[in-house]
Parts: sequence; structure tokens; C-alpha cells
Amino acid sequence: MIKRNSVVAIRKLKKNNEKISMITAYDHAFAKIFDKAGVDMILVGDSLGMVFQGHDSTLPVTMENMLYHTKIVVNATSKALIVADLPFMSYQVSFEKGVENACRLMKETGCGAVKLEGGERIIPIVEHLVAIGIPVFGHLGLTPQSINGFGSYRLRAKGDLEAEKLLADAIKLENAGASGIILEKIPAELAAKVSKMITIPTIGIGAGKECDGQVLVCTDLLGLDEDVNFKFVRKYANLAETINDAVKGYIDDVKSTSFPSKEESY
Ligand code: KIV
Repeated sequence: MIKRNSVVAIRKLKKNNEKISMITAYDHAFAKIFDKAGVDMILVGDSLGMVFQGHDSTLPVTMENMLYHTKIVVNATSKALIVADLPFMSYQVSFEKGVENACRLMKETGCGAVKLEGGERIIPIVEHLVAIGIPVFGHLGLTPQSINGFGSYRLRAKGDLEAEKLLADAIKLENAGASGIILEKIPAELAAKVSKMITIPTIGIGAGKECDGQVLVCTDLLGLDEDVNFKFVRKYANLAETINDAVKGYIDDVKSTSFPSKEESY
């Protein structure tokens, strides 16, 4: 039997100087392929709100959405560590509600860790979750649940003050027992500094090559949305074009009655 990655196995990768691969997934078909390809971790991200629900932010994503999609991804995989996002409003309202929602995510989906956005503000809940056996990933830099406060998706922590706060938050998250930290859209130099300073893995998205690992949204790296052209995304496929060609071929075959053939019929 293949053993599923744990947060302990992921931390070992950093210790052994091996870079960590992470990708988002939200459904059975993609999660199964990513797991088979050998990705170390799969994030059931609340980016779900944008890439699969068509919203312009992650804020509308609900706990029920996360429970539904995380369960699907866990059931489709056997090797990757599954990390699930706690969505907006699931841990911001009260400490108790946050703990309850994190427990629900683990208990009802079988994921291996949960992810929360923020630094100092979330330390009490991170400490408590770790103490009760729930592995936690932090998320610093461009934290999408705070988009209305930021006003845009531009690079974060460019200035000294925000950079110093981010460094301090990373240390606090490590001391609180976090298993790793996502660093989103911050200068590569700052991400390198954080990665050297803490012993838990940093996973970058738009944060340069010195992070201990990288994460990308699956639809971005697969080229599923022609309108996505972020500087930090490398497109490894152009699935939008591939799917378009395939569906056009199917339509043509149906119209011309070349599908189904005799061999494809009973
Ligand atoms: O929700 C998400 O997909 C994320 C990644 C962008 C890190 O948080």
C-alpha cells in the first residue's frame, strides 16, 4: 500500500534539500491525475471561488463548498498530502467557530492539514489547532481573503515595514507550530530570507525560486483559461485550445453523422 504524505514527510523534504511540489485541485478527475503524476501536496484552495465558481474573489466560498470539494479530492487520491483552505468567515468571526470549522474539515473530509491566511492575528487559533492534532499551513503576503483591504492583487511587502512584519509573522507561525507557510506574490529576495530563517517549508506562488517549494493553481499551469496571463505562471499546457479542438471535432462528427460509427454502436 502506498503511504500518503504527512506534514512530517513534507518537512523532511526541506531538511533533505528537496524542493516541494504543490498544485491546487477541486475535483475527482484532475486530483486523480495530479496524484498519479506524483505531486507532493494538493491544495483544495478557496481559489475554487474564482476558477470553478466564476466569482471575482475567494470571499463567496463557503464551508459547505470546501467540505464538498475536499472530500472529492481526498477520495480521488492516495499519495499526496491534501491541504484544505478554511474559507473566509470560517475563522474570522470567533476563535470557537474557527476551531469547530477546522475540526469539521479534518473530520468530514480526511484531509491532512488546513490552511489559514494571516500572521499574528491567527496565532492563538494556530496554537490551539496544532495542540489538538490538526496540522496547519499559514499564508502570508498577498492573502486573497483580504483583497478588499489591499485594493488590488499587486505585489505585497515591497516596502521595509510590510517586509519586516511578514518576517516577524513567519517566525510567529513557526513558533505556533505551523507545518509550513504559503508565500504569495512577494519579492523573491524577501521570500529567500524567510525560507532561510525558518525551519518549516515555505511554498511560493509568485515568490521566486528560493522558496522550499512551489504551488500553482491547476487551471493556470494547464492553460485552461486563455484570459489568465500572470507573470508568475508558467503554462505547461494549453488545455483551452486542446479542449476547444476536441469539442469542435465532436460537434463536426455528430453533424456529419460520422459519430458514432458501427464499431461504436451495439
Ligand atoms: O486558494 C488557493 O488556491 C491558494 C493558492 C493561490 C496558494 O491559496
